[in-house]
Amino acid sequence: MRVYDLILKKRGGGELSREEINYLIAGYTAGTIPDYQLSAFAMAVYFQGMTDREMLDLTLAMVGSGDTVSLSKIPGVKVDKHSTGGVGDTTTLVLAPLVAAAGVPVAKMAGRSLGHTGGTLDKLEAIPGFQSSLSIDEMIKAVQTCGIAVVGQTANLVPADKKLYALRDVTATVDSLPLIATSIMSKKLAAGADAFVLDVKTGDGAFMKELEEAFTLAEAMVEIGTGAGRETIAVITNMDQPLGWAVGNALEVKEAILTLQGKGPVDLAELCQVLGSWMLLLGGKATCLQEGRKILEQTIASGAALDKLRELIRLQHGDTAVVDDFSPLPRAKVTVPVKAVDRGYVHRLRAETVGRAAMALGAGRETKDDPVDLAVGVVLVKKVGDRVDPGDELAMIHLNCAPEAPLAAAARGLILEAYEVKPAPVAKPQLIFGYVDRAGRHRIF
Ligand code: URA
Ligand code: CA
Repeated sequence: MRVYDLILKKRGGGELSREEINYLIAGYTAGTIPDYQLSAFAMAVYFQGMTDREMLDLTLAMVGSGDTVSLSKIPGVKVDKHSTGGVGDTTTLVLAPLVAAAGVPVAKMAGRSLGHTGGTLDKLEAIPGFQSSLSIDEMIKAVQTCGIAVVGQTANLVPADKKLYALRDVTATVDSLPLIATSIMSKKLAAGADAFVLDVKTGDGAFMKELEEAFTLAEAMVEIGTGAGRETIAVITNMDQPLGWAVGNALEVKEAILTLQGKGPVDLAELCQVLGSWMLLLGGKATCLQEGRKILEQTIASGAALDKLRELIRLQHGDTAVVDDFSPLPRAKVTVPVKAVDRGYVHRLRAETVGRAAMALGAGRETKDDPVDLAVGVVLVKKVGDRVDPGDELAMIHLNCAPEAPLAAAARGLILEAYEVKPAPVAKPQLIFGYVDRAGRHRIF
């Protein structure tokens, strides 16, 4: 087999066999196939796409490039949730304890933030003492004893993806649907869950700006997961404006705790109910989504979900006091309000621009080795559909510099740019656009 011929075949729109795909990925991982050939291959895929069969084979080849986690020692159906990434997406912090309290075991490998999208690990580490560097055995033991663990990746999972993603990043091939779908699903499969609930985000702050693209990505990922023998569904959700009020690590921990107390923002709470109901259904703890929702509502109302968060924090050596009192969380030195200039209604609140503001403040990372300021961020007061009068607070910026510093002005400018206020009233935006299961797509209107 010659790599040249495989590149040529894909360039011409041909379909690669499983053996050919395995050859490429094994050679690339081992270093016997050079970056420049994989770059050309990635570009060929970018233009020619891949069939469902090719995507499944590529995903499995990538899974096979490194270690895989076995969760078989944990009884029950392990359901993992994955979000394709958004701004202020606080859902994992809420969902993990919520569904664990309802009986679905959660063995979560979470990531760190990169670019304008946040990472669950950074958020959890805003809790003083919280340890995310558990070994796989320690994680399994934690889930066996209390049904939940959220850890950083320690094992050598999917090295082929690490290499390929870095290559795509510098060869303009990140935004290729087959490469995104296989990259995400290879990591999900390697982490060992039995079933997946995917939150595919669409809109300003998401990878997929258009609804149609989001549905197509969701279909590809559901096809891969199902093809690999794991029940997989994808919910298509709105990421035009940030989710909830808070964007920033400690601020989102606070928001998650409020949500588990039943006092969180409506959009975040609703998304957690929807994704959580699917997790209960796939985990065999509910027979339909309606029943799942009822169980989750009771789990919040009884305080069981909040108790589960307390248990998670205790087990991972964090300060459980934060659950009842936010004062141990890192707090920014100053808060600066951003006030409305115009009268009217919020028509848009651009998620990516808010994300960029939070990044500028230090809440995220530009490259993977950048430090993160856990205290800073933005708390949105007005969201799409809300009425505003001149002088009303639109948002509050939490920052660790003087209020007159250039950074404060820059962040304030970005937040003002994110808001679009117009005179006519406007409805609250639709949060859930539909879902994809093995039967196909289901649009919600
Ligand atoms: N997230 C991933 O893990 N991989 C991609 O290719 C894109 C987003
Ligand atoms: Ca949020």
